[in-house]
Amino acid sequence: MRMYDIISKKRDNLELTKDEISFFVKGFTNGSIPDYQASALLMAIFLNSMTKREISYLTLEMALSGGKTDLSKIEGITVDKHSTGGVGDKTTPIVIPTIAALGLKSAKMSGRGLGHTGGTVDKLESIPGFRTTLSDEELVSVVNRVGACMIGQSGDLAPADKKIYALRDATATVNSIPLIASSIMSKKIASGSSCIVLDVKVGSGAFMKTLDEAKQLAATMADIGKSANKKVAAVITDMNTPLGNAIGNSLEIAEAVRVLKGEQKDDLYRVSIELSAAMLNLAKGIPMEDCRRQAENAVESGKAFDKLKEITAAQGGDVRVLDNPGLFKKSSISVGIKSPFDGYISSMDSEKIGSASVVLGAGRDEIKDKIDHSAGIILKKKTGDKVKKGEVIAEFFTNKADKIAYAEEKFLSSLSITDTKTKESDLILCTLTN
Ligand code: URA
Repeated sequence: MRMYDIISKKRDNLELTKDEISFFVKGFTNGSIPDYQASALLMAIFLNSMTKREISYLTLEMALSGGKTDLSKIEGITVDKHSTGGVGDKTTPIVIPTIAALGLKSAKMSGRGLGHTGGTVDKLESIPGFRTTLSDEELVSVVNRVGACMIGQSGDLAPADKKIYALRDATATVNSIPLIASSIMSKKIASGSSCIVLDVKVGSGAFMKTLDEAKQLAATMADIGKSANKKVAAVITDMNTPLGNAIGNSLEIAEAVRVLKGEQKDDLYRVSIELSAAMLNLAKGIPMEDCRRQAENAVESGKAFDKLKEITAAQGGDVRVLDNPGLFKKSSISVGIKSPFDGYISSMDSEKIGSASVVLGAGRDEIKDKIDHSAGIILKKKTGDKVKKGEVIAEFFTNKADKIAYAEEKFLSSLSITDTKTKESDLILCTLTN
């Protein structure tokens, strides 16, 4: 078999066989297929898409490219969630304790932030001592003992995806439904849970810019799940505006704590309840309305917050910062950012706001970059809010005085301020359950 023939077949929009896809994934992962040929194939896939069969072969081959997490020693139903990526998305430290408080089990693996999007692992590591790497034995023991753990992906999980993703990032081929769906689902399949809830983001800060695209991505991932004997549900949520008010690692953990303490009932709370409910529905077959009520009760009773503290303690984290987020290490500078005009915020470009927080130190441009857990942005105003010229609309936190002006320019360019209030977009656009 020759890589040249596989590229030309896909270029001519013909369906690749299981063997051809396996040849590509194996060869690219072991280094025998060079980047230039893999790039050409990825671009042909980007332009011509893939059939359901091809997507399923590609995903399973990537899932098999490394080790599989063995969750068979976990007692009970294991559920997983995955967000397609957004800004201010701190649902994991809310949802995982909530569903664990309701008796489900989860060995949740998350990634680090890259580019304008934040990563759950970085957020959790802002809790002093919190270990996001556990051995397989520790993982099973923590989940059996407290119901859940929240960790990073092991280096051995779907290594084919890691290589292909890096190449996509450099060749303008990230934004392709077959490639995104296979990338996400290969990791979810390798990480072993039987039920998977996908939070598919749509809007300015997301890969999918329209509801139709988001539905297509959700359906593609659900099909892959079915072919791998997994139960999959999807919740499609708006990412035109950052979720909640905090962007930046310890700032986001403090906000997750406010939600779990019942002090914040906003967009972040609603998405977290919907995701928790979808996980409960998928695992237990209880009607969604009952699941929503159970998730709300877990938060209101304080059980979900207690569970976050149990998980944190089990992973070596200092629970004192959860009881009192004022104990988080603070950045040396905080600056109020003022509205340049009177009017209403009619839109916010989440991607630009995420980039402004990266400039302040909260994120990284390259995976090896070090991040500042204390840096970030607190939004005082969001889409739909009335603002006055000179009023503080956001607060920046940073240790880099020389970056404030650039971050401010980026942040202000993300806002559109108009004379009249525009119609608010729906937050939860649709929930596709099994
Ligand atoms: N998240 C992933 O893991 N892969 C993609 O391709 C896009 C988002």
